[in-house]
Amino acid sequence: MAKKSTKNADFTVPGLSIEQGHAVGQLLQQRLHALNDLQLTLKHAHWNVVGPNFIAVHEMLDPQIEEVRGYVDDLAERMATMGVSPTGLPGAIVAERTWDDYSVGRAPGVEHLAALDLVYDGVIQDHREALARVSDVDPITEDMLIGQVRGLELFQWFMRSHIESGSGELQNAGVRTEEAAAKSVKSPKAGKSAKTARGARKK
Ligand SMILES: [Fe+2]
Repeated sequence: MAKKSTKNADFTVPGLSIEQGHAVGQLLQQRLHALNDLQLTLKHAHWNVVGPNFIAVHEMLDPQIEEVRGYVDDLAERMATMGVSPTGLPGAIVAERTWDDYSVGRAPGVEHLAALDLVYDGVIQDHREALARVSDVDPITEDMLIGQVRGLELFQWFMRSHIESGSGELQNAGVRTEEAAAKSVKSPKAGKSAKTARGARKK
């Protein structure tokens, strides 16, 4: 259970004990860090994508960023509603997060998408864990998190659709790092099959 701290108000939402409400609010802090980090990371990719599908990826990312920024606001205001002061400061994100900065810089679109698929993996897994932990105590917070996971999973599918084969395999399957994910889509097979296709059309 949460301990009383200066971060916490003397109230929480009606129907929950102060301890329950503050525990749920505090649990949301790490989700707030994760989504603040995600919207910055998606903007970084929006600015650093290059290559022939630049405009498709560049423009696909902005609506995701806008949606995630909305989730950030909802999370922070839910924390405050529950009597816990939300922290959105950059230093706190860096100090308290449990993951490293996104590691891909200027790179072709599919490389960013393969790496961002892993970013979404981490955020969604932790969001699902958080919603499972609050579900018995606070269905209102659970409902908010369910809506966010639904949106995040939809966006991850947008990413995956670019790196999915016709038989449903992801090119970055089994990789554990963003660098490896980006490398996994630099496949020479793409060039080979393109040559074959051009040859085939000549016949
Ligand atoms: Fe922009």
